[in-house]
Amino acid sequence: MNRAKEQRKWLKSMFSEDEPFNSDQMDGKPQPPLSNPVKSLEDVIALPEFGDDIFEKTHILDIINDRVSHRKFKDEAMSLEELSFLLWSTQGVKSIAGDQYATLRTVPSAGARHPYETNLMINKVEGLKKGIYRYLSLTHQLAYVYTPENMDRTMAQAARKQKFAGNCAVAFVWSVVPYRGEWRYNERSHKPMLLDAGHICQNLYLACEAIGCGTCAIAAYDQKLLDNLLQLDGEEEFAVYLAPVGKV
Ligand SMILES: Cc1cc2nc3c(=O)[nH]c(=O)nc-3n(C[C@H](O)[C@H](O)[C@H](O)COP(=O)(O)O)c2cc1C
Repeated sequence: MNRAKEQRKWLKSMFSEDEPFNSDQMDGKPQPPLSNPVKSLEDVIALPEFGDDIFEKTHILDIINDRVSHRKFKDEAMSLEELSFLLWSTQGVKSIAGDQYATLRTVPSAGARHPYETNLMINKVEGLKKGIYRYLSLTHQLAYVYTPENMDRTMAQAARKQKFAGNCAVAFVWSVVPYRGEWRYNERSHKPMLLDAGHICQNLYLACEAIGCGTCAIAAYDQKLLDNLLQLDGEEEFAVYLAPVGKV
């Protein structure tokens, strides 16, 4: 059997009746936090509410029909309001269920585990300095992390020399915190967690289409380079998927 065929099992369900499993949740272990805590309160930025004036399209048929991948963006800044809308559309928290048991967001997630964090490489957003930021989904805020040297070139390099990953207003990079899913489903959580990423990125595509922006999903990237750029440990949290965004 060739390597690809051997690995196919991973695409199949691990929830069959004849596959018993155990998990930390079943063993009574405490649940991990719903969202990663912010390191410093000093660099937290509130995101504005967005008004109707940011929308160019509002009919869902037009938005779905017109969606395409964009790899060329105008040399224009996005507004903070537009960024606020894209973040809300992809990971916005609508409510918290139970006693801090689960978040319910604008996208679905297997078992409402919501294992993703949103990292941003911000190049051109009105009112924000260039740098790496994180979305604080529970409070709809941004946290500034740092500004690496040659940030956009490093991002393009990390995306296997796909230049548009650096030449954009903002690059969204979703990193997974695997234990949020593993706590409940153990190794069975891995496939559903990847499926979750598709929903997040599709909402970004559609939200961009509504406001005159464009994006393109990217799965071809260098794991170490991207994790280093975002200051992720590569074990308890690592990049899974990215999508540069700009005006089109
Ligand atoms: C999981 C996934 C990974 C992708 N990775 C890349 C990529 O690394 N580079 C790229 O240019 N496009 C990438 N794409 C975009 C596809 O090439 C694009 O969706 C496809 O050509 C269809 O075009 P459309 O999105 O305009 O309909 C990816 C799309 C998906 C869904």
